[in-house]
Parts: sequence; C-alpha cells; structure tokens
Amino acid sequence: MSAIAIIGGTGVCDVRMLEQVQEGSLDTFYGVIHYLRGTYKGKNVVFLPRHGKNHSIPPHLINYRANILGLKRLGVSTIFSTTAVGSLNPEIKPNTLVIPDQFLDFTKSRHASFFDGGENGVVHVDMTEPYCQQLRQVILEAARSIQEEKISPKGTYVCTEGPRFETPAEINMFAKWGGDLVGMTNVPEVCLAREAEICYITISMVTNFAAGISPHQLTHEEVLACMDENAKRIRSLIMKAVELYEDKDCSCRHALSYYGGFMV
Ligand code: HPA
Repeated sequence: MSAIAIIGGTGVCDVRMLEQVQEGSLDTFYGVIHYLRGTYKGKNVVFLPRHGKNHSIPPHLINYRANILGLKRLGVSTIFSTTAVGSLNPEIKPNTLVIPDQFLDFTKSRHASFFDGGENGVVHVDMTEPYCQQLRQVILEAARSIQEEKISPKGTYVCTEGPRFETPAEINMFAKWGGDLVGMTNVPEVCLAREAEICYITISMVTNFAAGISPHQLTHEEVLACMDENAKRIRSLIMKAVELYEDKDCSCRHALSYYGGFMV
C-alpha cells in the first residue's frame, strides 16, 4: 500500500497520533533522511521533519532532493506539507491558513531538480498547476468537516532564499508582482515532488505580516510562537485530510510521462 507523507515542523508531526510507530533513516543518493513511520486510521503515514531533528537545518541548506527521493523510495505517493509564511496582503491576516495555488521562485543557491544533465538527463517539468488539485479539494473538505473557518483556498507563495527575512523594498516588489505570502521553504520542494510524480500540497500558516507591513521588526521567535499556538489546528486539519483522502490516480503521477516516468 502506498504511503502519505507529512512534511512539517515538530509541532505538526506529533508521533502520538500514529499507531505502530517506527523511527527510521534511509540513505539516498543525495544524503540520509530521518523519518517516523506508522499508521493513522489504517493508512500508512510517514512524518518527515523538514528542518531535521531539533530544527537544526536552515531553509537554504535543507537537503530537499534527499527528502523527496527518500519519501519516494518509502512508497510515498502523496505529500501534505506545512509551511510558515509572512503575509504581503493586508486581507490575509496572521493566524490564517492558506493553501497556495501558485508560487514565485526567488531562491538562489538550491538544487532545483533531480535532472542535472549527464546520466540523469534533462527534464523540463510542467508547472501550470504546481500544487495538486485533488489534494486542495481534500483539504477544503477536511476544513469544512472540522469547521475550520480561517482558511483561504488560494494564494501566491513567494519563496526567498533566506535565512534572513526580507527588506520592506523586496516585500513591496513581491506584492506588486502578485505575491500574497512569503516563506523560505516551499521551493524547490514542490518542484521536486512534481518531478518525482508525487501529489503535493502545502498548507501555509500566516505567522506575521511581512517586513515593512508589520508594525514591528521580525523575529524567528514570533514565527515559532505562532506555529506553536496553531499546531493543534494545523494537525487537526491535516489528520482529517489524511482520513478523508482516497488514493486515486492523478495527473501529478504522470508528470514525467513524456520522459518515460520517474526512475526510483
Ligand atoms: N518571511 C519569510 N519567511 C517567513 C516569514 C517571513 O516574513 N514568516 C514566516 N516565514
């Protein structure tokens, strides 16, 4: 049976929710991943803390390729991820959950593809709909089911390189270019999942107004405090989505059909 992965912070990946939990690690071509595996309502679930154990890896140094390839090797066909974001949009206030439908990529130094030429070849994957439409519907259904009302069904996620926060001038530009949210971790995760033909969606928690919109200077403590406060809400939403989710075929699973599919 295929597995559902949840990529997120420690508050979200709460081991107590799973049955038959096992800790594991897997060595991939790109490096080792550490994960927890178990079952939830009869479904196979893998928890992967994106920033490593104890939140020790900054966004620009996360081994995104090892994470996604490792999950693929574990039989994962669906990923629900969580991301913390600042808001560029006065209508989208802190403590809101947003399910982005587009992204703008301002990362600089990350490995953005499994296909680096040579033996691995070159792949240009389609990103017209970067996030899985089926998973979006499942999350919206889960939100209705648990009466989660502070949720927005779409938005454009701007991914910056970090680890620093943005300048107000950058935020001003991102907003003019159509961005709604700013974060440091969703790209290339979303792109690699598509290359690996895995259905992928992220749920973004707005932890603050972005630099220059916020009335005060930004701190990581503020972001962590908001994630902690809302961890239970995010967890309930994701676990309800896992419960409601029915594994079925999806265009995400055929993203590389032109290239003969993704070789695991
Ligand atoms: N900028 C970038 N990443 C973030 C922010 C922000 O304001 N808030 C949470 N993650």
